[in-house]
Amino acid sequence: MTLTSAAADIWKQHEFDDLGPVPAKGHSLTFSQSIRTLVQNLFPILLFPKVILRSAPLRSWRLASSAYSEFRDYIFLLTQRAKLLGPTEGERANLLHALVSGSSDVSRDSLSDDEVLAHMFTYVLAGHESTGNTMAYAIVNLAIFQEAQDWFLGQLDEQLKACQAGSEGMWDYSTTHGSLPAVISLMNESLRLYPACAAVPKWTADAPAEIHSNGHKYIVPPRTPVVINTIAVHRDPKLWGEDVLEFRPQRWIEDSPRKGQFMAFSEGARACLGKKFAQVEFVAVIATLFSRFRLELDCGPGENIEIVRDRAIATLDGSTILANLGMTKEVPIRFVERV
Ligand code: HEM
Repeated sequence: MTLTSAAADIWKQHEFDDLGPVPAKGHSLTFSQSIRTLVQNLFPILLFPKVILRSAPLRSWRLASSAYSEFRDYIFLLTQRAKLLGPTEGERANLLHALVSGSSDVSRDSLSDDEVLAHMFTYVLAGHESTGNTMAYAIVNLAIFQEAQDWFLGQLDEQLKACQAGSEGMWDYSTTHGSLPAVISLMNESLRLYPACAAVPKWTADAPAEIHSNGHKYIVPPRTPVVINTIAVHRDPKLWGEDVLEFRPQRWIEDSPRKGQFMAFSEGARACLGKKFAQVEFVAVIATLFSRFRLELDCGPGENIEIVRDRAIATLDGSTILANLGMTKEVPIRFVERV
């Protein structure tokens, strides 16, 4: 790879550990804090020009503005590092390496720094929290509902054995990913009850749209906004049966949803572009974790498990929408090595 001396200079002056606890030189937030603050204050960032946010009387808006510029700086620095160093020894190429590969070669149709930044912004906004929160819901639900976890672990063990994955160095996309339906069932069930996008905004564009429901026909006029309430669709007993509120990943093995019944990734021309990406991340993390560990709720000294369980369920019920649906409190959990 050709190293641009500008990229090398920039990186050397600002070198930082992207997952570390110390902000890079000249920054007040770490990389992770900048993402978190950005996502928590997304609406003012999307709605108002940065110049207004910078001098707004509301502290949260000013915070949003500085998180945005810190995030942008970090992505710029990481882009320079990816260009400069490529994957380090023992590290596989990541998304950023793929985006910048060939970007110093002007003869190729490669992405500019601004385009890389725009892609990373989309990835973090559309993909990071949605997938991360879905993993958090799966983990907390398995810790609360031990019967669901028993089913999941039994299926996972069988499926890992059948595709010979699970041992060190044997995780391979082509043989493993499609062979673990239990993990996709777990992801779907978490998304059914706790869809990251609780409301999907749509628009009828220039033509009227025809909708059929309960034997009636409805005409939605052109240029009309329509918002799909994903939570209501996913918790409708008419669609899912009387056990609709139970966390039961096995329902996805027993039956497949009809069109329009599972809207977590939306449907149609503007459905989620990153669905497969999110599934691959989810399967990789969850299958690796649960091939070695099982989960329990972590009771404090003298605490009754029933009380801890009720509190964990209340935390799930108290979920709220920031950028995505998420929990606002922590649930204490413990990973226990499987024997
Ligand atoms: C569990 C994880 C995820 C969920 C639940 C999710 C869900 C959604 C939903 C509901 C939409 C709206 C579709 C519509 O308007 O009809 C969407 C759009 C989108 N998602 Fe995802 N997403 C996830 C992960 C990701 C990831 C990892 C990426 C990128 C790597 C991504 C990229 C996008 C993009 C680019 C769009 C806009 C598509 C368009 O407007 O044409 N998503 N996602």
